[in-house]
Amino acid sequence: MRVGILGSGLMGAKLGALFARAGHDVTFSYARSEQKLKRLAREAGKNAQAGAPREAAQDADALLFAVHWSRMDDVFRQIGDVPGKVIVSCSLPMNADNTELAIAGKSSGAEALAKRLPKARIVSAFNTVPSEVLFDVFAGRRKATKPSLVYCGDDSRGKKVAAELIRDVGFDPVDLGALRMARYTEPFALLVAQIAYEGKGGPAIAYRFERFGGERGV
Ligand SMILES: NC(=O)c1ccc[n+]([C@@H]2O[C@H](COP(=O)([O-])OP(=O)(O)OC[C@H]3O[C@@H](n4cnc5c(N)ncnc54)[C@H](OP(=O)(O)O)[C@@H]3O)[C@@H](O)[C@H]2O)c1
Repeated sequence: MRVGILGSGLMGAKLGALFARAGHDVTFSYARSEQKLKRLAREAGKNAQAGAPREAAQDADALLFAVHWSRMDDVFRQIGDVPGKVIVSCSLPMNADNTELAIAGKSSGAEALAKRLPKARIVSAFNTVPSEVLFDVFAGRRKATKPSLVYCGDDSRGKKVAAELIRDVGFDPVDLGALRMARYTEPFALLVAQIAYEGKGGPAIAYRFERFGGERGV
């Protein structure tokens, strides 16, 4: 697929590199410097290039939305209207100082995104893992047991595309159902981040939630 990366920071840079390694044609966009985007494209190999958000979006089969919540309007102003596009969002609706979710409870960032872009196919995925674990998961993707990764959305085509990308990174995709399930995954993502960065488990704790009571369970 052609995958446009909107936000080439920790998540966008890592996922973009992995999508390219898995054989997708990737365009890195939206960072503070063009040099960084070019470097990411160079490092990701022949399937990758750097571009402006509009170029990343133009012919994309899927877009990864991976920016801080406060950048949402700027990104969508730059890409313009995207009717029918699949947008996989890993973004969490954090407040400006990253201390709490700006949207939670009766809605979620994913649902707010869908309201903002009513004609796009929004799927929420990848936000429940710290970016550090992504390369390890990719390296182990041929193992019989893979870590699970949940996703949710209201559009079946969008979900099919997201599941393929999730599988290509090395996870076993688990369909949680409707986009409103993001009301539960987004706070869960904060729990994982707190344990990973403040607890003793480190980012690898993200693997361990999948099997309660199992061999590798917690
Ligand atoms: N990091 C994780 O482990 C993780 C895990 C789950 C979910 N998430 C969510 O994923 C989203 C992205 O997180 P992240 O950690 O990848 O964030 P990040 O590292 O800060 O990346 C954000 C990207 O936006 C770019 N950007 C910021 N301000 C900009 C501006 N004014 N103009 C142009 N580009 C600008 C940054 O540019 P530069 O590259 O130049 O800095 C960077 O490429 C967030 O919503 C976060 O909550 C992150």
